[in-house]
Parts: sequence; structure tokens; C-alpha cells
Amino acid sequence: MSWIVRVEAIEKGFSLHTQGGVHIPVLRRMSFEVAPKEVLVLVGPSGAGKSTLLKLIYGNYRIEAGRVEVRHGGERLDVGALSSREVIALRKEGVGYVSQFLRVIPRVSALEVVKEPMRARGVSEAASEERAQTLLSRLRIPERLWNLSPTTFSGGEQQRINIARGFAIFYPVMLLDEPTASLDPVNTETVCELVEEARKEGTAFIGIFHDAGVRERVATRRLVLEAVGQGDESRTL
Ligand SMILES: Nc1ncnc2c1ncn2[C@@H]1O[C@H](COP(=O)(O)OP(=O)(O)O)[C@@H](O)[C@H]1O
Ligand SMILES: [Mg+2]
Repeated sequence: MSWIVRVEAIEKGFSLHTQGGVHIPVLRRMSFEVAPKEVLVLVGPSGAGKSTLLKLIYGNYRIEAGRVEVRHGGERLDVGALSSREVIALRKEGVGYVSQFLRVIPRVSALEVVKEPMRARGVSEAASEERAQTLLSRLRIPERLWNLSPTTFSGGEQQRINIARGFAIFYPVMLLDEPTASLDPVNTETVCELVEEARKEGTAFIGIFHDAGVRERVATRRLVLEAVGQGDESRTL
């Protein structure tokens, strides 16, 4: 099957302006493609650039060299060349992103946080409510918490709200950055099931998982990132 995400010879580093503008290379001429129904798992030591790579695909950073393309709405989009409005549109329908952190907004209930992406896509109130309840139940969020703001929830509870929100709607592409970092084994298993269900419907995943068991369970392919920067110039030559 042909690709839905294509990364071609991208390079990315960070310039540390507060430290004399020293440039730390992170990704060097990296290329790969991901097709629908694939789960590409990024493997590599901390600092190798795994999260940076996901953020590049999500349109968070300027791309220094190379190109990131996503197929969306029958077009090939050059992510680095999109306006901020186009990036927002791509994120609404085309590319989902779930990290281990939930952006909590005071006074907005857990149920509303999960329903929001469905509402934004025009899903009916009744269908949104049902889907949100199903996800919260599957992720073992006690019903007494559903109408409370996640502000005071534990880290693991907030993470599960974030997962429920991320999986509330179908995205052709999903980027996962350690979504199971502070989950117990049963909830981690539920996340693996959610990934598998979406994959069967056609989602292409690019994911980072700290847990080797999860990587084994969900990966259809792996991509190993080597640490290139770290301020150790000999390794960058
Ligand atoms: N916004 C940033 N500014 C400066 N350096 C950064 C920034 N984001 C990441 N880095 C650096 O880039 C390298 C890769 O980070 P990251 O992509 O988070 O690695 P990983 O997810 O593989 O652990 C690290 O050395 C990190 O310190
Ligand atoms: Mg990371």
C-alpha cells in the first residue's frame, strides 16, 4: 500500500541562543515512509530525537532541510510549507497526536474534554456522549470523575483522559509519544487494543513507547534512531 506519511532526508537541530548560538544536530538525513495500517515504532536512547521527529510531522517545528509529506484530502501536503491555518486543519481531520500529558483546562469536565474533538468534527451530541462514555469506561475512569475537571486527577488518570480524547475520532495518521508512560498493565493493555482497533480501520501510527512489551505488542515495523547530537562533536562528523 502506498504511503500516507513520507519523510525525506530531513535534518533538524536546535540552536541554543543562550549558549553562544551553538547548534546541536538531532536528526540527520532521515528518510522513511509509513502506510495505512502500519504501526512504526521509533526506538532509540533518550535524546535520540524521537519526540522531535513526531513534532516535525505534526507541524510544530520549522524543517531545516528535507521534507515531510502527509496525504490528506486527496492531496500531498508538504507539512513544512503549510500556513498555521492549514496546520490546524490538518490536525483536526488528518493527524492526531497523543502525548503523555493532558492540557487541562479548569472547569471543563473529563467527559467534555473527550467529546470536544467529536464536536469539532460535527458528530452529534448523543453519539459523542456515547463514544466518550465507552472510552472512559474502557480506560477504567470511575464514573464519579466523569463530570469533574481533570485538573485534580492523578497523572495516570489525566493520561487516560488524554488517550480517550485522542482515540475519540478516527485519524488517518496518529502520532503517539509515550502515551502509556504512567499506566498500570491493564490500562496499558487497553491502549494496545485501541491502537490495534484503529490500525485495522486504516490508521497509520508512528509511536514511541517506553515499555518494550508494548513495542513488541503493537509494532508492525521499527525505526532505530541513533543519538547524533548530545554536544559530542566527534559523533556528528
Ligand atoms: N526545543 C528544544 N530546544 C533545544 N533542544 C531541544 C529541544 N527539543 C529537544 N531538544 C534536544 O534534542 C534532543 C532530542 O530530544 P527528543 O526529541 O526529546 O529526544 P527523545 O524523544 O528521543 O528522548 C535532545 O538532546 C534534546 O535536549
Ligand atoms: Mg521523547
